[in-house]
Amino acid sequence: MTKVIKNGTVVTADRSWKADVLFSHGKIVAIGSDLHGDHEYDATGCYVMPGGIDPHTHLEMPFMGTYSADDFESGTRAALAGGTTMVVDFCLPAPQQSLLEALQMWDNKTSKAACDYSFHMAITWWGKQVFDEMATVVDKGITSFKHFMAYKGALMVDDDEMYASFQRCADLGALPLVHAENGDVVAALSQKLLAAGNNGPEGHAYSRPPEVEGEATNRAIMIADMAGVPLYVVHVSCEQAHEAIRRARQKGMRVFGEPLVQHLTLDETEYFNKDWDHAARRVMSPPFRSKLHQDSLWAGLQAGSLQVVATDHCAFTTKQKRFGVGDFTKIPNGTGGLEDRLPVLWTKGVNTGRLTMNEFVAVTSTNIAKILNMYPKKGAIVEGADADIIVWDPKRKKTITSKNQQSVIDYNVFEGVEVTGLPRFVFSRGELSIEEAEVKAKLGHGQFVGREPNAAVNRALSTWKEITAPRKVERTGIPATGV
Ligand code: URP
Ligand code: ZN
Ligand code: ZN
Ligand code: ZN
Repeated sequence: MTKVIKNGTVVTADRSWKADVLFSHGKIVAIGSDLHGDHEYDATGCYVMPGGIDPHTHLEMPFMGTYSADDFESGTRAALAGGTTMVVDFCLPAPQQSLLEALQMWDNKTSKAACDYSFHMAITWWGKQVFDEMATVVDKGITSFKHFMAYKGALMVDDDEMYASFQRCADLGALPLVHAENGDVVAALSQKLLAAGNNGPEGHAYSRPPEVEGEATNRAIMIADMAGVPLYVVHVSCEQAHEAIRRARQKGMRVFGEPLVQHLTLDETEYFNKDWDHAARRVMSPPFRSKLHQDSLWAGLQAGSLQVVATDHCAFTTKQKRFGVGDFTKIPNGTGGLEDRLPVLWTKGVNTGRLTMNEFVAVTSTNIAKILNMYPKKGAIVEGADADIIVWDPKRKKTITSKNQQSVIDYNVFEGVEVTGLPRFVFSRGELSIEEAEVKAKLGHGQFVGREPNAAVNRALSTWKEITAPRKVERTGIPATGV
């Protein structure tokens, strides 16, 4: 059976042009004028774009004494409803747990996934077993490893462990990721705030100032350079972290930065809301920042120093958030956003002129597919690519509310935000999954996407060290003559 999207404007990361898109058996087979198929979908007035890829989700993840509330069923339905056709979720081994055993556990969660998915593997402890199993994980198509520099006493790895793991990534052609916050300083600041009686949700923000993130980002970058490996920094929220990434890129290092749609559009004033629930529902790490930091992140997306926009979807119900009444360090960290990423980014980015449509496609899909080594199977409208396609209606509007969202939680951090720009149709490997506001997604349709290691990884080291290597200086005490 063939399907064709007719009369739309194809928008990719490079260009926009009028064309029909024909697909069959889950793959794009032709792009051109006057194409016909068994089923035709009208895209008049719409943009035909590669489906969104969210490179950062935590579905049904054990964390801070509970499990994140959305699983692969509600999470992937939410993704599709908002035009995201693939998620990359974090497999999180418990300390001392085998990576392969954890992977099996994660695999078992995915039977109801409605869209395609892949995994990053987290390195939560270090030892010969982890070192050995990393190779098997790469063989299984998981070629990115996440390191938490925060959550001291739980997930955090120390610098020597991170350096060893980064070197292993370099050898295996894998990409290391970091959650960059100085976990020791966060722990100290948290204790200081609690001791002074500051136990409300705003204490969470005070305990994680931008300096904590900037320092850790810079440290991770330096360690990656010494290990000779590129680096992907998740949830970049502030200028200090962005600055470290910009500086590294200018020196020729492959460092990638991922802001979240939440940090781009919601600010720190959310934590000063008198309603405890309101503030706690927005507790995540790093916390929301001031408008100046938001401007830095938007500028980074425009200039290319930040490449990707994700959600870090890690949703907890109000009841779960209330575990932290009287002690902000016990509020489960995380916010949702899977259904809202594209509409909010389009509304606050494209409709305001901050992003072009092509940049929008780049940061929500194509750049992610390239960095995670699954392009052009994903992230592209080209013959042979998976038919993960959104037909985007730039005129459709809605007001975001938890009342009709796919996520199972009882609120939405974007509640009340009016968006203009929503999917008309969403196809997941050719399957019609969303038609206007109607979710037709088939549970279990999603497949695992394996990724190849990156052959270039080992050669990522910049020439920076050679330039700054100490010169031979003869200390004669006589000033140089300039000869
Ligand atoms: O607060 C957050 N971001 N929760 C999810 C886990 C993580 O740190 O990414
Ligand atoms: Zn057929
Ligand atoms: Zn994180
Ligand atoms: Zn995360």
